[in-house]
Amino acid sequence: MPGLRILAIETSCDETAVAIVEDPDAVLAARISSQIHLHQPYGGIVPEVASRNHNLALPPLLLGALEDAGLRIGDIDAFAATAGPGLASSLLIGNTTAKTLALSSGRPFLAVNHLEGHLLSPFIGQPGGIRPCLALVVSGGHTLLLQLRSAENYILLGQTRDDAAGEAFDKVAKMLGLPYPGGPEIDRLARGGNPAAYHFPRSMIDSQNDEFSFSGLKTAMLYTLRKINNPKSQMENLCASFQEAVVEVLVTKTLRATRRLEQRLVTLSGGVSCNSRLREAFADACQRENIELRIAPPELCTDNAVMIAFAASQKLARGRCSPLSEDIDPNLALA
Ligand code: KG4
Ligand code: ZN
Repeated sequence: MPGLRILAIETSCDETAVAIVEDPDAVLAARISSQIHLHQPYGGIVPEVASRNHNLALPPLLLGALEDAGLRIGDIDAFAATAGPGLASSLLIGNTTAKTLALSSGRPFLAVNHLEGHLLSPFIGQPGGIRPCLALVVSGGHTLLLQLRSAENYILLGQTRDDAAGEAFDKVAKMLGLPYPGGPEIDRLARGGNPAAYHFPRSMIDSQNDEFSFSGLKTAMLYTLRKINNPKSQMENLCASFQEAVVEVLVTKTLRATRRLEQRLVTLSGGVSCNSRLREAFADACQRENIELRIAPPELCTDNAVMIAFAASQKLARGRCSPLSEDIDPNLALA
């Protein structure tokens, strides 16, 4: 007998994504439509442009995903959608669509926290299911350090006091004249640069808590740029030096919490965990300390609907579903 089939929709920001997953994590279809090119001229996400394009992109993506999976709507056992955090008008498109499909087919609806999707993504397709770990979630909107005990049991240890790690990448990239989103651009340019060429602050690296602060990096970059005659010639060194500051803080604080809480597994998730230097630095540090490291493949680190389906399957396995009256919440917290 086939497992339960969950169709999940993700529309919290600028990616419209649909996935069909057979419980718990066999991916039958995963379609994604990025709007980045529409927002690039503005240097960031324009909420109204985002919601209107989710509205346009979603129907063909749904049909395409069903075709990829060789299924019809009637073959789907449950419908899930991101309920927050994210842009209100964007969340509403995916959420209302999933509720409507659930209502018309008489199947359950599951509201999923986008951050829970990221948090659990390193376990998708991995044997052994979800295991206790120290989890770092680093995205465009969040920088969270958590202790994960089981699928729906986690403790928030700390988060950023100001900018998220991805936000720091995006803002600094903008100052350097690089296109949005800045993270992948900085990652690419940094490969040819010297990470010790400039010194950027490692804010809160020695603080005895699990909090972060990245907003000082913008000011530091501004002052550094003022001192350089030809910043374009220093682009690679600036990117490598800035990136190293972010990476060093993330690795140091995550490993310190891992030791303190005697965890044997570290997971990374969220868009910033695509960063090649971050992956390399975590791999080195974890190997040195004999700690296991799990990072989802890049397509599951950035926003996607497979992670929403996977988080929904964990809820469904516990007999949980959401009322159709449940609202979206742009500020939905994780713990
Ligand atoms: O998780 P995500 O796709 O969306 C949110 O939930 O925010 O993360 C997007 C963020 C952006 O800030 C983007 O610049 C960053 O992830 N990002 C990266 C890389 N790829 C994406 N940051 C650094 N290096 C990368 N390779
Ligand atoms: Zn995300």
